[in-house]
Amino acid sequence: MRRTAYAATFRRSDLGRSICACGWVESVRDHGGLIFIDLRDRSGILQLVCDPSKQPEVHALASQVRDEWVVAAEGEIVARSPETVNPNLPTGEIEVAVRTLEILNKSLPLPFQISHGELNEEVRLKHRFLDLRRPAMQRNLAFRSRLNAIVRNFLLENDFYEIETPFLTKSTPEGARDFLVPSRLMPGQFYALPQSPQLYKQILMVAGFDRYFQVARCFRDEDLRADRQPEFTQIDIEMSFVDRGDVIDLTGRLLRDMFRKALDVEVALPIPTLSYDDAMARYGSDKPDLRYDLPLTEITDLARESKFGVFLRAIESGGIVKGIRIPKGATFSRKDLDDLVAETQRYGAGGFAYFKVTGGALASNIAKYFPEGILAKIRERMGAEEGDVVGFVAEPPAAANTVLSQLRASLARRLNLIVPGKNAFVWVLDFPLLEYDAGEKRHVAVHHPFTAATAETRALLASDPLKVKAQAYDIVLNGSEIGGGSIRNHRVDWQEDLFRTLGLEKEEVDQKFGFLLQALALGAPPHGGIALGQDRILMLMLGADSIREAIAFPKNQRGVDLCFDAPSGVDDRQLRDLGIQLRAKPKT
Ligand code: AMO
Repeated sequence: MRRTAYAATFRRSDLGRSICACGWVESVRDHGGLIFIDLRDRSGILQLVCDPSKQPEVHALASQVRDEWVVAAEGEIVARSPETVNPNLPTGEIEVAVRTLEILNKSLPLPFQISHGELNEEVRLKHRFLDLRRPAMQRNLAFRSRLNAIVRNFLLENDFYEIETPFLTKSTPEGARDFLVPSRLMPGQFYALPQSPQLYKQILMVAGFDRYFQVARCFRDEDLRADRQPEFTQIDIEMSFVDRGDVIDLTGRLLRDMFRKALDVEVALPIPTLSYDDAMARYGSDKPDLRYDLPLTEITDLARESKFGVFLRAIESGGIVKGIRIPKGATFSRKDLDDLVAETQRYGAGGFAYFKVTGGALASNIAKYFPEGILAKIRERMGAEEGDVVGFVAEPPAAANTVLSQLRASLARRLNLIVPGKNAFVWVLDFPLLEYDAGEKRHVAVHHPFTAATAETRALLASDPLKVKAQAYDIVLNGSEIGGGSIRNHRVDWQEDLFRTLGLEKEEVDQKFGFLLQALALGAPPHGGIALGQDRILMLMLGADSIREAIAFPKNQRGVDLCFDAPSGVDDRQLRDLGIQLRAKPKT
């Protein structure tokens, strides 16, 4: 029997046609005479009817069939009787009067029902082949495939070459640990799986390809979160003879194309921009969710005029006092407000001091520590209106921002400020080039160490490195960093200066990045690029709450592929071939 078409593609217009469909048995219902089988393939459901009065052998066979058996059915498309029409199914007006039924494979009883109910994720990942049969996962991966095609078409039409780069390579620092692969031919030597194709794409620019892209797999050994995987996919882009504006413009048009063609959603261009400093000051985060405003406001100068010991001591030791206005917060119960205090403590704050706005003034049991004029100024700066609550933390600047940005997000959910379906894109610009790593006692790159400084601040690299701004940009969607990139150091002296500021010794630079410096010295054009986190974008487009919903075979929170049972031990001979002896006996 040869399949005519996918099961759920038949309609009323096919009435009278003889067809063959193949797929899985979604359900079997025996109506004491007729047997109905819901046949499922990737397109959806088609109802088969087996009538004992017309085809007794077919009916006998159908009575043996169980869920998830694989069958082929041949017969005529007929109209369903009016009372059995199912308006919820595209094929709901028709069914197949089966003439021939063939069982292609049986199935053992399933560990879970394919199409019903909420499932524990461990179970889903362990039986991923069954989980992927579910309509939701079929839709997600079909969507992923379509989005890839849109991205490829857009970039190819915009003169990009798609070029693949190796997995077995040298460390490319993006701030995570490397996954290492031992070499058998060179005992004691290791490849690193790429954290990104960063250096390859720069070398491709030196080689004159001008515009490169790749749907690139990246590997990072880092702690996993809902939006992170140890291997993930980037839409990786690099361009020559461009400035920041060119990359931003191209990326905006690419995102517009992706959202328009895959979701029928318009992205307004140009996408708004925000400086890193403003993002941190106003939202406490370099990836602010701008679907709502809820700004943060610093009042350190005003708090200094109070007699409130908690604030004064925090300021004394270098902290700031910063807060948030909770619109209509006075409707929160005493318990709600206590919960808010506990919530900020969970985020790491010592406390959360709040005032209610009543009778035009700030009221609180700590109001007595504040001169009246100061309270009025605080209220005015916070933009607080009658019935609002304003609350403050007093912490070192980074901690204050961490706490308040999380509180901001949680308040937005609680106050129902997130309009469903709204997408807020924003570019965050003018990042610092470096930050100080107190643990390592040295400066480290905020993006990666190939990012160029801005022309205006480059001269400060030796004297005041933390003041140097990067020609870097992050694209943020609804509070998620969906991509990031920069203009690179195409001049070898710029790159050497940066390595020096990062505290790298000459030998280390030669050993790790000698090839890059040589390439930069041999005719490197100005270049820059970006990488979009494809899985993350898919997660947001699909409205999923985990990146794993957008990936066929993801790892769980411990980095384990439960379906394939990886990672796993290897036998002693393999280790011997690699010249490897384990330090400790592995736990089983
Ligand atoms: P970056 O490290 O910012 O830049 O990565 C780019 C984007 O990739 C996504 N991403 C991840 N997605 C899932 N799981 C992860 N573990 C993960 N890590 C990152 C994010 C992020 O914005 N080479 C540079 C790009 C460049 O400079 O051109 C780079 O990799 O969405």
